[in-house]
Amino acid sequence: MQSSTQSLDTQCRSDFPVLKRRVRDDKALVYLDNAATTQKPIQVIDAITNYYKNHNSNIHRAVHALAEESTEAFEATRSKIAKFLNIAHSEEIIFVRGTTEAINLIAYAWGRDNVQKGDIIVTTEYEHHSNIVPWQVLTQETGAELRYVDIDDNGELMLEQLDEHLATGKVKLVAVSHVSNVLGTITDIQKVIKKCKDAGAKILIDGAQAVPHMKVDIGNLGCDFYAFSAHKMLGPTGVGVLWARKELLENMKPFQCGGDMIREVHKQETTWNDLPYKFEAGTPNVADVICFAAAIDYLTEIGMDNVRNHEIELTKYALEKMSKVKGLVIYGPNDTKKQGGVISFNFKDVHPHDVATIIDKNGVAIRSGHHCAQVLMEKLDVAATNRASFYIYNTKEEVNTLIDSLEQVAKVFKL
Ligand code: ALA
Repeated sequence: MQSSTQSLDTQCRSDFPVLKRRVRDDKALVYLDNAATTQKPIQVIDAITNYYKNHNSNIHRAVHALAEESTEAFEATRSKIAKFLNIAHSEEIIFVRGTTEAINLIAYAWGRDNVQKGDIIVTTEYEHHSNIVPWQVLTQETGAELRYVDIDDNGELMLEQLDEHLATGKVKLVAVSHVSNVLGTITDIQKVIKKCKDAGAKILIDGAQAVPHMKVDIGNLGCDFYAFSAHKMLGPTGVGVLWARKELLENMKPFQCGGDMIREVHKQETTWNDLPYKFEAGTPNVADVICFAAAIDYLTEIGMDNVRNHEIELTKYALEKMSKVKGLVIYGPNDTKKQGGVISFNFKDVHPHDVATIIDKNGVAIRSGHHCAQVLMEKLDVAATNRASFYIYNTKEEVNTLIDSLEQVAKVFKL
C-alpha cells in the first residue's frame, strides 16, 4: 500500500492483480460487484501460497513442527478477529463456511431447543434468503410463527412494526441484516438491539455487508449472535465467522459431530470439547482461515473509517450522476448517511440482465437478478434489479464509466 496522503483507491489499487485485467474486447475491468464478493490483494494471495508452500498441515492434532505452526497461525486469525471487532473472549468466535452456515447453525443448534409452538420469530423484508429460509424451516417444524418488519418507500425498516411484534411478549428471536445487500440501507442496529433487549428477545445480526465496510464494535453492540463472511472483505471464500455470547454457546448442543468438537468418545456416549471447538467439527478450512488474517491486517492498516468515508464519497458521486440518467429508477434511501456503498436500480421496462449485458461490453461488472432477496423483490414489485456495489479500490473514473454505459443503455432503448 502507498502513502496515506493519496486517495484510498490510489493507495491500494496496485495491490489487486485482477484489477489490471482487460475484458471484452480489451476494455479495462470496472469491478462493481463487491457486495457479491470482493477482489483479493496480493498480500492475501501470497499468504495462501506461502501456507501451502511452507506450512501445510492439519491443526490441533499432531505435535510435529508443521502442525504446531499451522495451529498457531489458525488461532492467530481468531485473535486478530477478536481485536478487529473488539470481542473480549476469542473463544466466542466460531469459524464456519460463511454467513449462511452461521445463521443455519443458530437455527439448528439454538432454534431447535429454544423455539416452540406459540413463539414468534421476526425477520425483515430486506433480508437475504439465508436470513429468511432457516427461520421458515424452523417455524414450520416447531409450529412457531414467522413475522416480518416491512420497509417504507425509502427502503428503511418500519420499526413501529417491530414494537408491535415485541409487544406480544412471544418473540424469541429477531433476525436482521446490519446492512441490506440490495438497497444498502444501514439498519439502526443500536435501536433494534435496545428494543429486543427491553422485550427479552434474542437478536441475531447478519453482518455480511457491514463488517467489510464500516467499524463494527461487536463487544459493545449488545446483540446475541453476529455473522459475517471473509470473502466480502478481501479474504478467501469458504470462511465465515459466527460470534455468539459464551453462555448461549455453552448451553447449545453441537451443530455437527466429529473431529475437533469431541473431548471423549465411548461406545454409547460422547462429551463435547470446549468452546470454540465444540462448534468446529472436522478439519476446518485451515489455509483460508490463515490467509484471512492477511485481509484483516490490510483493512486494519487502511482503517475502517477510511473505508467507510471512501464508499460514502463514491456513493454520493454515483447517486448524483445516476439521478440524471433518463429512465433510471433508484431504490433505497438515496442518502449516504443511511446507506452503504450499494446502489440498486432499474430502467423502467428494461430487463436488468439486458442492462448488465450491455454495460459488460464496456468492461463494467455489476450484478443483475434478485440478489437472493425475493421477498424484497416482491415488495418492490420487480422480478430483479441491477446493483452496483463499491469497495476500497473503486475510483470516480470507474463511476464515470458506469454512468456513460448507463446512458448508452438509455439510448439503445430510446428512454
Ligand atoms: N449475498 C451476495 C450478494 O448479495 C452473494 O450478492
